[in-house]
Amino acid sequence: MQIVDTIAGLRAARQGLKGQVGVVLTMGALHMGHLTLVREARDENDAVLTTIFVNPTQFGANEDLSKYPRDLPRDLAMLEKTGVDLVFTPTSEMMYPKGFQTWVDVTEVSQGLEGQHRPGHFKGVGTVVAKLFNLTQPDIAYFGQKDAQQVSVIKRMAHDLNFPLEVAVCPTVRETDGLAMSSRNVYLLAEQRTAAGVLFRSLQAAVGIYAAGERNPERLRQAALRTLHDEPLAQAEYVSAADAATLEELNAISIDPILLSMAVRIGQVRLIDNVLLPLELNNRRDLTRVLGG
Ligand code: PAF
Repeated sequence: MQIVDTIAGLRAARQGLKGQVGVVLTMGALHMGHLTLVREARDENDAVLTTIFVNPTQFGANEDLSKYPRDLPRDLAMLEKTGVDLVFTPTSEMMYPKGFQTWVDVTEVSQGLEGQHRPGHFKGVGTVVAKLFNLTQPDIAYFGQKDAQQVSVIKRMAHDLNFPLEVAVCPTVRETDGLAMSSRNVYLLAEQRTAAGVLFRSLQAAVGIYAAGERNPERLRQAALRTLHDEPLAQAEYVSAADAATLEELNAISIDPILLSMAVRIGQVRLIDNVLLPLELNNRRDLTRVLGG
């Protein structure tokens, strides 16, 4: 596995990758969710390129940039074991040199949900992903469903800016109690970690009534909220039932497929999760087709 930490080094090494290249963009602090994306990329491509870059422009002023977990030696060992060919680890100064002033803003699909609660977040994501696509030139770029709105933003951006690549979306990887794997889970204290299982349980509560025939979006949201309210350590920031293609909140009438999603604080730790309804859509092919339209 080759590791490069300069843009010139990346360009030279990228030229050496032959055939179809799969790319997995990460902010490090890798877990099984990332490794699943890498494995998928390895299975479907001739070579796999991974980037590790904690992107400052997608963190809000009062978010956890300085505390974001970082362990490069551990991440590199995991990537090497999983069969990555090339890793790019740029610095902030390289990605945002003095005088930087060009931004990628996906204006509509980034408005609600996470965008509403994290102003500027998707402008940072859109910009860094566009830059990393230009630098790494993937044939297929792999992302996880856990960040469903991020996927929609990136798909829209890739389409609008004519990036010659395919965006592949892989199902959320979960712990045994259903908690979605996330780099932020390491922040949870033991009692909070137990409480965090409530996100999955509350999604399941809504899935249960949907499976029994309920189609009223407000009742789906309320079913999830009731379960969240049963957990004293959980504070819901939002619970949404939205049109999965446009991410617009659904009112009286539901239009399948629905993206049921939530952001919940467990103490200081902000967690997100989601599921597509009907449930059969939560597989690689359908996710890639549905999220982002
Ligand atoms: O999902 C992430 O880890 C980040 O948002 C990404 C796509 C690597 C951009 O910084």
